Amino acid sequence: MPALLPIKESQRGIVQQIAHVLQPRFAEIRADWRKQMFADFQLDGRAMAALERLTIGTGFRVFCHADMERFYENAGYYGTRLAKLKIDTRVISRSLDIYLEILVPYLRDHFDGDRLPEIIAALDRFSSATYVSVSDAYFDNQKAESAALLSVLDAELSASGLDALLERVLQITVNTFRATIGIILLRDGDAPVLRARARVGFGPEVDNLEIEFGTGFSGQIAVTGEPGILPDISESHGTLNPFCRDKAQALWGVPLKAGDKVIGVLLIGFAKPYFWLDSERELLRAIADRSALAIQRAGMTDALREREGRIAELSGHLLRAQEEERKRISRELHDETGQALMVIRLYLGMLEQTVTARTAKAKIHETLDVVDRTIEGIRRIIGRLSPLVLQELGLIAAIRKEAKDLAKSAGVKAKVSVGENVGRLSPVTETAVYRVVQEALHNVAKHANASTVSIQLRREGDLVKLCIEDDGVGIKAQKPNPGRRSFGLAGMRERIATLGGSLKVGAASRNAQGPGTKIEVVVPAASAGDWHDRGLTTVQEQSAVQKSSN
Ligand SMILES: Nc1ncnc2c1ncn2[C@@H]1O[C@H](COP(=O)(O)OP(=O)(O)OP(=O)(O)O)[C@@H](O)[C@H]1O
Ligand SMILES: [Mg+2]
Repeated sequence: MPALLPIKESQRGIVQQIAHVLQPRFAEIRADWRKQMFADFQLDGRAMAALERLTIGTGFRVFCHADMERFYENAGYYGTRLAKLKIDTRVISRSLDIYLEILVPYLRDHFDGDRLPEIIAALDRFSSATYVSVSDAYFDNQKAESAALLSVLDAELSASGLDALLERVLQITVNTFRATIGIILLRDGDAPVLRARARVGFGPEVDNLEIEFGTGFSGQIAVTGEPGILPDISESHGTLNPFCRDKAQALWGVPLKAGDKVIGVLLIGFAKPYFWLDSERELLRAIADRSALAIQRAGMTDALREREGRIAELSGHLLRAQEEERKRISRELHDETGQALMVIRLYLGMLEQTVTARTAKAKIHETLDVVDRTIEGIRRIIGRLSPLVLQELGLIAAIRKEAKDLAKSAGVKAKVSVGENVGRLSPVTETAVYRVVQEALHNVAKHANASTVSIQLRREGDLVKLCIEDDGVGIKAQKPNPGRRSFGLAGMRERIATLGGSLKVGAASRNAQGPGTKIEVVVPAASAGDWHDRGLTTVQEQSAVQKSSN
């Protein structure tokens, strides 16, 4: 886009003219400039080559073949290179000045004295425009470096887990350096082995890659903890994985370190031989350091999440085992104790018929009463252990029965309201919701000093919502008290969590009597499922106990 060129049309013409006229003298001008630059700065060959590209002497070749647009494109490119070589912009400014100072005597030789001011002004302008292009390149380079580091930070904040983070970090690195391939190898636990965890430009064949510490290019980086480079793979005769040899001509690698410990290696590769510049190596290292921290954190979060998942699974298993155990105990109570009591009752009844002595008859009668009360007690225990009404008539009937029992035993008026579309839920869901109601009502009787409690159950789409609200004294902030063990609320939470639901405990919404307590539960509604298959024998057996004891 010529319109954006930082030098005026008229001055461009003059600069091109100067270049033409001085063409035979550029070799000596260049030699003088190099001597002066060496005396002032002692730069290495790469920096000197790049600086030379910014002068009118090299520009001349470009002016002849194309035009000035190309020259400024090149100035941008070499500016980026100088930025990556970490050359101070003051050195660039000085280099352009030195070149101009050396040019002046030559200009006097070739141009009329009265044209000289115009000529020097055009050259001045040419140098300033070059300096502006280079500064832009410096700025863009700085921006790209900050953007890369910021993207890693952003990846850390937004990635959903370790794998997603690794993918993003690798993509950012590959894009930043315009590499063609990339791979992140992570250490496998504490073993000195690296495994591929994310890849760009490789197929799934690298997924099973295992590299021992000390072996090959990445194994060496893992051991030394220092960046490594193979600028031209065709000239490297060390051990290199064939996957890499096939895909790249140059490889750059950097360790991922958490403190002093190497947790992995990040590699990128290029289609052409390519040696890194100092700032590229430093940027790669900075990206790796930033990423390593994020990777370590994401790894810990993943491990915690996995542990949490295992604990939840275990606690779900324990709860299921507890329900099974309760059923087993209630069956045994029925089969052993219940049956034995029935036999005792039968024999005592027969004995009562045969005995005539009044005192003995009265004693037998009393004993029969005790046996009846025991049978009644056992029936209640069986009901609590594995609530028959829940299995036979479902959750709603079981909740109504609990509410009635509460009114009877604690004198708390209980109101149950159930939405029309609740229906039957899966056995696990019904059991969990029932156990929550059971414990919540126990708590009302035990702690609340309430006069009423309301229990609401409704279904909203795929969710079942339960709300138990009393008008009692309310739950006070509990001080941690290791001596006092209470498991009711914790157990409720656990049960609901294993179903993927949530439980909230708080103050009741509106109460005249006291602050009250409200427990709100939301669980996913699953279908009725295997309810009847699982409990059938127990149900029949328990029906028998209940009927026989009535
Ligand atoms: N409805 C309620 N009204 C007032 N306080 C309550 C109510 N429910 C629970 N609490 C308070 O919360 C505490 C914890 O209840 P939680 O059910 O976990 O234990 P607990 O009933 O004391 O013992 P556990 O249930 O293990 O036999 C109770 O000790 C009580 O102080
Ligand atoms: Mg309790």
